[in-house]
Amino acid sequence: MKHANSQEAEIPTTVAANINPLLPAVVECPFGYFAQLRRQPPVFVSHGRFFLISRYDDVRQVLLHPEVFSSAGSPGVRRKLPAEVVRVMARGFRPVPTVQTIDPPAHQRYRSLLSKAFSSRRVARLEPDIRRLAHDLVDKFIDEGRVDLVAQFAVPFPLTVIAMWLGLPVADLPRLKRWSDAAAAPLGGMLNREEEIECAEIELEAQEYFAARLEERRREPRDDILTDLCRAHLDGNEPLDNGEIYYLLIQLLVAGNESVRNLISSAMLLLLQHPAHMAVVRAQPALIPKFVEEALRIESPIKAFFRVAKSDTRVGGVEIPAGSRVAVLFASANRDESHFSNPDSLDIDRDNLSDHLAFGLGIHYCLGAALARTEARIAFEVLLSRLADIRLAPGNELTHTPSFIFRGLKALHLEFST
Ligand code: HEM
Repeated sequence: MKHANSQEAEIPTTVAANINPLLPAVVECPFGYFAQLRRQPPVFVSHGRFFLISRYDDVRQVLLHPEVFSSAGSPGVRRKLPAEVVRVMARGFRPVPTVQTIDPPAHQRYRSLLSKAFSSRRVARLEPDIRRLAHDLVDKFIDEGRVDLVAQFAVPFPLTVIAMWLGLPVADLPRLKRWSDAAAAPLGGMLNREEEIECAEIELEAQEYFAARLEERRREPRDDILTDLCRAHLDGNEPLDNGEIYYLLIQLLVAGNESVRNLISSAMLLLLQHPAHMAVVRAQPALIPKFVEEALRIESPIKAFFRVAKSDTRVGGVEIPAGSRVAVLFASANRDESHFSNPDSLDIDRDNLSDHLAFGLGIHYCLGAALARTEARIAFEVLLSRLADIRLAPGNELTHTPSFIFRGLKALHLEFST
């Protein structure tokens, strides 16, 4: 198989190709590495055995051509499950592809199934509850004058929203977090074998829990998404079975949880690093949605997802042989200097503010984008209206949970006045 970096003479800069993209230091702060990558066409990195697609136009090309770049398979770094993990998983539901990991025509059937659940009407109906929840979370820490925004706000906020939306009790939040984290972590490619096995074991707990909730809904239907999924018929024939619903639910749980959590904490850090912007959005809350778009662009809570080339093809002039895995670097495309001027600067007035690819593009464009934007807007409306003079508390490390896929601060300790 001929890979792009076998033609080194034609590639102006090969430095980035020789760096392992999974090195902890690169994963912690990938933006310098991505900038180097963008100076050359897609490169094949032998460390991970995949191509890196880093430029805005190349990322668009991959996302807009699902007939060439398949989503079937893992969206994460791991190509194949280790045998020990397969053995654990064999005790649970048989893994089935679901909305993000399936190609047309089945993909369209999943989108139709979920469109009602994600409709802007349903999101708008949730808005008062989301606002109340944001206030309740602030009430719990406001008298302390300090908070770890990640643990005390950014984690419970989207987790509670997704639980309310699915129809799950708030008392189950700690378990839902454990399951969501265990499903998200293996995607990031930074776990050792023992940790991977532990995540698979935890997933079995989640399967048992969801199977019980689904049986309850079949016995006693309610007005919630779990009930809707029990009644859903994907092809107009048989209803979905528990395994199919489980894999859909866990994907929604991770998607609805991890990235919104990361957006809120990294967006707050951006405001603290840009006091002039903090002053502007405080004075004019109507600008919060614009700030949220810029935070999505600069911080890209999902740095990358994978695709597989179905046939021999070319991207940016580089041959990509059939069967190759490609990492689509949303976080790099969002800072591509050929598309965004001064891409590393926060600028809520840029004319192409909404061109970012943080929610993807094309047929797999994020189904939860409206919900995520609503949550982030309300979070900042409430936080900025109730906490004055927000500043970083001493002792912050400002490091991220290691993941090639997700970008999220581990903690964000703040002090404030009221
Ligand atoms: C800041 C928050 C979010 C970000 C940055 C984000 C990002 C993304 C991205 C990049 C994709 C494209 C996947 C691909 O092309 O393979 C995606 C798809 C998806 N997202 Fe989100 N997402 C966010 C919030 C949410 C929320 C709140 C939900 C639901 C509760 C959600 C549900 C989904 C689903 C179901 C898909 C798969 C759609 C498909 O494959 O057709 N996301 N998201």
